[in-house]
Amino acid sequence: MKIKNICCIGAGYVGGPTMAVIALKCPEIKINVVDTNLKKIRCWNTKDLNKLPVFEPGLSKIISKTRNKNLFFSTKVEKAIDEADMIFMAVNTPTKTSGKGKGMAADLRFVKKCAMQIAKFSSSDKIVVEKSTLPVRTAEKIKDVLKKENKNLNFEVLSNPEFLAEGTAIKDLFKSDRVLIGGDNTESGKIAVNSLVEIYNKWIPLDKIITTNVWSSELSKLASNAMLAQRISSINSLSAFCEKTGAKIDEVSNAVGKDHRIGPYFLKASIGFGGSCFKKDILNLAYLCQYYGLMEVADYWLQVIKINDYQKTRFSKKIIDYMRKNKLKNVAILGWAFKKDTNDSRESAAIDVGFNLLMKGARLTIYDPMVNQNKILNDLTTYFKIKNIDFNKKIKSKIFICSSIDQAINTSDVAAIITEWDQFKDYNWNKLSLIKYYMIFDGRNIIDENIKTKLYKIGN
Ligand code: NAD
Ligand code: UGA
Repeated sequence: MKIKNICCIGAGYVGGPTMAVIALKCPEIKINVVDTNLKKIRCWNTKDLNKLPVFEPGLSKIISKTRNKNLFFSTKVEKAIDEADMIFMAVNTPTKTSGKGKGMAADLRFVKKCAMQIAKFSSSDKIVVEKSTLPVRTAEKIKDVLKKENKNLNFEVLSNPEFLAEGTAIKDLFKSDRVLIGGDNTESGKIAVNSLVEIYNKWIPLDKIITTNVWSSELSKLASNAMLAQRISSINSLSAFCEKTGAKIDEVSNAVGKDHRIGPYFLKASIGFGGSCFKKDILNLAYLCQYYGLMEVADYWLQVIKINDYQKTRFSKKIIDYMRKNKLKNVAILGWAFKKDTNDSRESAAIDVGFNLLMKGARLTIYDPMVNQNKILNDLTTYFKIKNIDFNKKIKSKIFICSSIDQAINTSDVAAIITEWDQFKDYNWNKLSLIKYYMIFDGRNIIDENIKTKLYKIGN
């Protein structure tokens, strides 16, 4: 079946870039990306391409080529659903904050709402594609909703998880390691799978497009994220050990990664992984394991998160101990995004470190090239709320959001590098060596260890 019209529900970090790339590669397909968030849609439609809601290298160029040609952003969910042959669900699936599975299971509210809307607004058969990361067997639940709410039409549900990483989303979408499509082994299921394969095959070779059953596809996404995060926690756990023994974590990581059975990727010691997905997906995986009675398996994966928390606390404590010992108060927090080349700060280690330091009375000058003031303050407000601590005027008066590295550094006694932005790596740190107690806490191991300023590097 030739797809002529696509609707994508959810114009976020996945929906926006993914649909932009499909629009670029398939000019014959009309794509409507819809979202209930009017402000976000306005930003997607803004003339100033620097103001798109998602910052990704290469994205604005694609948007300028496709927007209002075959790619459209709007809030008209009903119309876009009805017009489409294929509907992608790219809505958020955060961790539940209440009810059964609170704090661990995925909150499928938005996915269920999508299914209800699809059933309600469709007047022809549809292929529904799970793009969001979902618990195994969610497709079954989606089918139940679709069948119950609309008895007259046929809905095929496919799983097509997204593997892009933020900061490299466009590169990842152009040259995916693999595209995964799970579908039913029925006649109509196979036709649906083939129509999606045909779309990706416009730019992805067939040998990189894997087709599986739906449950394998859903689980492969959770498994991939869990295994990537596990590698980071493994290397971070060893970084603590290095600090006790005189070994250097980057040297260990390099030596270990040279074994082709292990490989070099995701072995960079850091302040801890952030981002909206690793933690929530591992919690979700562990919850599902518990649900099926696999307690040992659940505990194994939860340990990955424990090490990540340990690493963030360990880093904060290093700074706090140094400040206490030398009677210092002012910390420059360099970087708020959870990694470089993104404006996303969800689950960023910066939030934990910022909180820990504020609780010890520190004064923070914060600078990030892409995350704006509102977002930073909002992240802290939410975090204090979660911790049940009053984010009062006194604490707020100790936070200064800066517009350059120099501004953040000028009134600080120490710097904490949280994000590996290139400009932090390239900065002339040597000039700070004249200040007696100035110390850089390099949470990303990006600073040359031979600089004159005092330096703490993770795992050294
Ligand atoms: P996001 O929060 O950036 O975007 C989701 C969007 O969906 C929001 O703008 C929200 O307003 C919209 N939405 C929710 N319900 C809606 C509805 N009923 N109708 C219309 N719009 C609705 O989330 P994201 O980062 O793009 O992640 C989406 C999914 O993709 C998640 O399941 C995530 O785990 C997965 N994923 C994310 C990434 C990533 O890098 N961010 C990578 C791979 C997979
Ligand atoms: C991750 C996966 O890499 C994607 O494949 C997946 O699609 C996505 O999650 C998702 O499902 O959301 P992302 O979180 O965007 O992508 O970015 P990563 O490059 O994986 O980095 C995650 C965190 O780990 C960052 O804080 C990063 O700084 C940290 N990290 C990464 C390390 O500390 N060390 C490393 O060696 C690699």
